Amino acid sequence: MSQTITLQNASKPSTLSVDEQIENIIKKQLKTAYIHNKSAVSKDVPSGGDLEGLKALPESAIKRFKDAGIDLSRGYPQVPDKEKVPVFLDEAIQIRNKEFPYIERAANADPEKKALFGAAEKVINLTQKIGTEIVGLQLSDLTDQQKDELALLITERVVVFFRDQKLSPQKQLELGHYWGQVEVHAQAARVPDLDGVTVIWPNYKSGHLTFKNNNFGNFDRKFTGYGNRTWHADLVHEFQPAGITHLHNDSIPDLGGDTIWSSTYAAYDKLSPALQEFLDGKEAVFVSAHGYLDRNDPFSGPKNIERRHPIVRTHPATGWKFLFVNRSMTKSIVGLEPPESDLILNYLFSVIEKNADIQVRFNWKPTKPGYGTSAIWDNRISNHSTVWDYEGLEPRHGTRVTSLAEVPFFDPKSKSQREALGLSLN
Ligand SMILES: [Fe+2]
Repeated sequence: MSQTITLQNASKPSTLSVDEQIENIIKKQLKTAYIHNKSAVSKDVPSGGDLEGLKALPESAIKRFKDAGIDLSRGYPQVPDKEKVPVFLDEAIQIRNKEFPYIERAANADPEKKALFGAAEKVINLTQKIGTEIVGLQLSDLTDQQKDELALLITERVVVFFRDQKLSPQKQLELGHYWGQVEVHAQAARVPDLDGVTVIWPNYKSGHLTFKNNNFGNFDRKFTGYGNRTWHADLVHEFQPAGITHLHNDSIPDLGGDTIWSSTYAAYDKLSPALQEFLDGKEAVFVSAHGYLDRNDPFSGPKNIERRHPIVRTHPATGWKFLFVNRSMTKSIVGLEPPESDLILNYLFSVIEKNADIQVRFNWKPTKPGYGTSAIWDNRISNHSTVWDYEGLEPRHGTRVTSLAEVPFFDPKSKSQREALGLSLN
């Protein structure tokens, strides 16, 4: 925007453009780090370390961080310095806006996973299609060979769980780096001095959430700002969206606070061949969770980053097709009229959300006192949703590290999971 204005009542007339003035105002306003969407229920989160947040941090998390040598003296969590956070959409979209190298670790793994399974006490499949728990292994001790095999297991089973883990945030980050470029969020709260270790703490500054409204996002898109209680996948607006995603919960309610994952390999297999054929090769528009201002229309409020990706993707390790949509962040199907797009997308979301046979629900407890539980999933081939039944009355706190994956692609010759495994298609 090249327009300049003169500030009324200012001692000196300003020669700054309107957008520069807005940028300055927002960057100096330290009370809140975010430009909120209208529907967001988050309270203001200050830039820098939060001393109030530190007071509310559960004891088990404090112990984990102290054992790991994390400096909590400036408060917790840490939110990026306002000066470094983009105000305008055109800057935000430039973050990771071109291709970077990605090595699919699962592609190098022994299909039998002998190093991983041989070292485990037990390997328990939790359902037919999705979810495996590994018992008797510490994630912090895995060899590279075991990490490759675990990556393969995740791409096949969608999500893999490990209880009783002694895992520092530094080790979690190291593991994430092995599986891909770790996403560093422009805005999200993180562990002090550990960019890439995002804080997942549903109680932190989330006001106005109630027993009644915490699920509204599953019925109406305008409530998706109510957060991760709505079905979603993480970071789908990225140029190279999230691959392996690792949430380690160090503080877990005694009862409840589960997470549910749904397989989008299996969701694709639920569609009729005619609908599969219609969707194959189409693209959708994906939006970010956080908002930024349009430089040319700053007073219209925050807008999200948007990117186009194939709506059916091919997984680079398994070669299987999967449906790549989620209720929170898939906005429209390219080439369709808005009502057509809404109708079809809502059906696809329902397939993912309503079929219990392609889902796993996981309770993060039990875990030994002083230890935490990890869930590691392939964000490409799943949607997830948390269960807020503890209503914020008990602490639930963890750290997430996300490894970004390949530029999404669709190979028309690829097969669905059931086709590739020779299972009945009826
Ligand atoms: Fe999530």
